[in-house]
Amino acid sequence: MSLLKLSKQSWSSQTVFIMAAVGSAVGLGNIWKFPYIAGDNGGGAFVLVYLACIAIIGLPILLSEIALGRAGQANPVQAMANLAHQSKSTRLWAGLGFNGVLAGLLILSFYTVIAGLALAYFFNSLQGLFVGIESEQAQSLFDDTVSNPWTLLFWHSLMVLLTILIVSRGVRGGLEKAINMMMPGLFLILLVLLGYATTTGAFGQSWAFMFSADFSKLSWQAVMVAMGHAFFTLSIGLGTMMAYGAYVGKDMSIAKASIIIVIMDTLIAVLAGLVVFSIVFANDLAPGAGPGLLFQTLPIAFGQMGAGWLFGTLFFLLVVMAALTSAISLIEPAISWFEQNWGFSRAKAAWLLGSLVWFVGLGTVLSFNYWEALYIIGERNFFSLLDFITSSIMLPLGGLFIGVFVAWAMRPDIREAQIELKGRLLALFNFSLRYVTPLAVILVFASNVASEWRTIALVMMVSVGIYGLYIYKMLKRAKCLSN
Ligand code: PFF
Repeated sequence: MSLLKLSKQSWSSQTVFIMAAVGSAVGLGNIWKFPYIAGDNGGGAFVLVYLACIAIIGLPILLSEIALGRAGQANPVQAMANLAHQSKSTRLWAGLGFNGVLAGLLILSFYTVIAGLALAYFFNSLQGLFVGIESEQAQSLFDDTVSNPWTLLFWHSLMVLLTILIVSRGVRGGLEKAINMMMPGLFLILLVLLGYATTTGAFGQSWAFMFSADFSKLSWQAVMVAMGHAFFTLSIGLGTMMAYGAYVGKDMSIAKASIIIVIMDTLIAVLAGLVVFSIVFANDLAPGAGPGLLFQTLPIAFGQMGAGWLFGTLFFLLVVMAALTSAISLIEPAISWFEQNWGFSRAKAAWLLGSLVWFVGLGTVLSFNYWEALYIIGERNFFSLLDFITSSIMLPLGGLFIGVFVAWAMRPDIREAQIELKGRLLALFNFSLRYVTPLAVILVFASNVASEWRTIALVMMVSVGIYGLYIYKMLKRAKCLSN
């Protein structure tokens, strides 16, 4: 029996693959989301739990996911079908790839709205709007921008368009070129900002806020957020890394690549946090300001520093670039699935899926103004519900099952050939994937079922409906594997 090896494209080198994966991992999650959720959840203890999640759960799952892509040689849905078939396991594992396709599109629908906001701020800075700005003015600039749905819609549309244009050009012609251009500058500008942060006089306070842990302040809800964010920031649990892994050559080391990706991603998040909180404390702002934190704090710094106009413009440009290299990875599982299994051209798939993402994104656009207080479940409006469902439910569950598949169902010889670990490291990897990861995810989940039962029930109902339809179709077509 032969397998469907559908991925014909590949990265041109190991370095390019690492850059692409780091590009996917480093994005709004590091620069925008991490500081604000750390602020919302009291800093210190939350940050430590987050770092533990990255090391204990994130790294093994990241490695597994890339390995699945390279071994499966196709888009996430087909790769899982291929591997399940080779491992004599049920074909329903393909549902895992499907979870990723769906989660990627849903995340992208709000990701482009926030990235659009960064694009708007790039132009604000370019026009000199931050010069000499005080904290109240920064606050009202943010309020004015988000309260106008047309403004948000405009920038959201532009971000979706850019994403479509890049992905439709393919792996080497589109993804690689964009990534090579955008990644190196990001790190440099963060270092410059870090230099500025040390001059604010609040760097020590920022450090203490991020690293001195008071576990009495830590709630289970915060643990769930930390775990969800570990998945979000590493781009794992939804098949992005699987899709990218399918383009990785046999001669490359994915174990080394995974470690580099984790280190780079964590470093950038921690640096961004230190920068943002230094500015927050130096200007007597509240660290728990929520999603607007980045947009309300950094302009103040840029407004005060020498050549702040230049740094502000560069910084928001780089946020946009970091977001773009993540956006193109969020849509890749769906694009490659449409291209490989449904016969779409890359460009057609990009336009179709991009339009869908644009449409769902309208809900997030409205969540910052007209629908802000339109709570769907509990105190969650459209945007925060979507964020919660994807980051705290779909990604951890996806990650859990990826781990379970690799640890328990995948043929051991295929697994070991892919991950290239030996001796103690291999034992540690297997142990973590077999016991620690599932236990951690299930524990955090179980403790939240009570408080979040309505959200979880809603997700389950919708998923059972969608998966049911999909599985019915898949079994009927039975085209997934060529026998
Ligand atoms: N890791 C990206 C970030 O931190 O912004 C977001 C992301 C990209 C999540 C790709 C998931 C994904 F598949």
